[in-house]
Amino acid sequence: MQHTVNPTNTAAGIKACLFDLDGVLVDTAVYHYKAWKRLANSLGFDFTEEQNEHLKGISRAESLNRILAWGNVKKSEAEKLELATLKNNWYVDMISHMTPAEVLAGTVDFLTSVRKDGYLVALGSASKNSGIILEKTNLAHFFDAIVDGNLVSASKPDPEVFLKGAELLGVAPNQCVVFEDAVAGIEAAKRGGMKAIGIGNKNVLTGADMVVSGLDKLTSQDLKRL
Ligand code: G6P
Ligand code: MG
Repeated sequence: MQHTVNPTNTAAGIKACLFDLDGVLVDTAVYHYKAWKRLANSLGFDFTEEQNEHLKGISRAESLNRILAWGNVKKSEAEKLELATLKNNWYVDMISHMTPAEVLAGTVDFLTSVRKDGYLVALGSASKNSGIILEKTNLAHFFDAIVDGNLVSASKPDPEVFLKGAELLGVAPNQCVVFEDAVAGIEAAKRGGMKAIGIGNKNVLTGADMVVSGLDKLTSQDLKRL
């Protein structure tokens, strides 16, 4: 189902922070890359880091579709399911060894400070592996609500993942700010009627209300400027 919320002009004030996971709190892109590359190579073609960039925020099934198209390989739906499972097994093998040292700079301090200042905190990730990642990196305890790929049917840029987060927290969309490293995620936040802070390059994340290179560049005071 496609969702789009019309933003209102009500200055409700930000009450909740919704965080994407991969590329915002932890750097798992390298593991996705290694697993997809292994899969592509096993099918007889290569997969570059540049292509991997285009898969940020994109669901596992859709990522596979794009990779097969790049490799000019056709597979049945049953074969695709097998290939996605194979890639995921390799990926899970790698993330099972993650430690809190792999949490991105500034993440723990920022999560601690927004909680201390009374903001509600939710996860809004396309990943179906968020549980294991949050557990291995010791981040799970920061979240009032967790919405991930197991709970949503529509991928970013559909705002479903963030609207569900707002609903679980009991706040209106215009009281939420989303932290995202993917263009599709920024679009999802805006379509949901939320503020969006881009984590990455401001020339790429052009739809965001503010862009920083990482959470280490933000304090919870900055949320008052939104
Ligand atoms: C995140 C990543 C994507 C990944 C997706 C699904 O959005 O940025 O690269 O494809 O999650 O992850 P999963 O762990 O369910 O395969
Ligand atoms: Mg991301």
